[in-house]
Amino acid sequence: MKRIGVLTSGGDAPGMNAAIRAVVRTAIYKGMTVVGINRGYNGLLNRDVYEMDARSVSSIIQRGGTKLFSARCKEFKDEAGVLKGVDACHELGIEGLVVIGGDGSYRGAGDLSRHGIPTIGLPGTIDNDISSTDFTIGYDTAMNTVMELVDKLRDTSHSHDRCSVVEVMGRDAGYIAVNTAVACGAVEVLCPEKEYNIDDIIAKMQAGRKLGKQNFIIIVAEGIGGSQELAKRIEEETGIESRATILGHVQRGGSPTVRDRVLASQMGKYAVDLLEKGIGNRVVGIRGTKLVDYDIQEALQMKKPFDDDLYELTKIISI
Ligand code: ADP
Ligand code: F6P
Repeated sequence: MKRIGVLTSGGDAPGMNAAIRAVVRTAIYKGMTVVGINRGYNGLLNRDVYEMDARSVSSIIQRGGTKLFSARCKEFKDEAGVLKGVDACHELGIEGLVVIGGDGSYRGAGDLSRHGIPTIGLPGTIDNDISSTDFTIGYDTAMNTVMELVDKLRDTSHSHDRCSVVEVMGRDAGYIAVNTAVACGAVEVLCPEKEYNIDDIIAKMQAGRKLGKQNFIIIVAEGIGGSQELAKRIEEETGIESRATILGHVQRGGSPTVRDRVLASQMGKYAVDLLEKGIGNRVVGIRGTKLVDYDIQEALQMKKPFDDDLYELTKIISI
């Protein structure tokens, strides 16, 4: 394979730039040329592309977001859109493709592979909701961002003896929520994977107050939502002043952590190694410390276990 493309798709994530850089430089190192495709699958359909040299990815490893921009492309969900994408690849001389994104992006990568454009998916999303990998690119940075922000909220909650209800991202997954709950000493975490009872939370807070607990952090995953209402109810029923904060898109930005930069760099190289061998229709993941790859359809069928022990830990160490 002599000419490959790279694009980022779906929600951006810190570390995507590091992955792009690794793809571009590994490919050039191996004597290939690289086409950068802007704004996800949209850019492929619109031929919004340019050739990337080694210097085109200078000074991006430390930057959040994605140099190639990102988008959600409705047209690509239909067969007609995919076929247009295949035509574009032929026209642009793109023999193989690296797609950095989430589950939806993986489906598009599978479709292109099925039509003869070998495509490799890399897991780029802060949510960590991709079953074929223990860690996604951007997840570690997002958790660290949440931790820093919740620590700041703790300062003001402490000063006012308040309860801070904090809503964190994760779409339908609670991985960011449960990890940051442990890291920030939250009294409770509400996530889609686990049932909860607001009366029990209120009773726990009242018991905590009696034992001298003055301020409280409650982490709510966005898949549960309703943080404003929860704060109001807590205040009404416990008398503890409560405020809700929805952290929002700040969680998607910022300079990637060491872990995300290294993971993205390893995965970027791994993807090019596969394409070099003419292998497509695979997604790259990490299991423990080992990089792995799976068939895209198999990967999309996998289920990711939730860490029940970590969830239990939040209960035990927040008494
Ligand atoms: P993510 O990749 O973060 O999960 P989306 O689910 O929005 O984000 O998917 C990103 C893009 O992947 C979509 O805009 C679309 O272009 C493509 N995509 C999503 N679902 C499919 C599908 N079923 N078939 C082909 N492409 C898809
Ligand atoms: O998938 C990443 C993510 O930030 C989710 O956590 C969130 O549900 C969603 O994307 C937000 O999407 P948008 O940027 O379109 O508002």
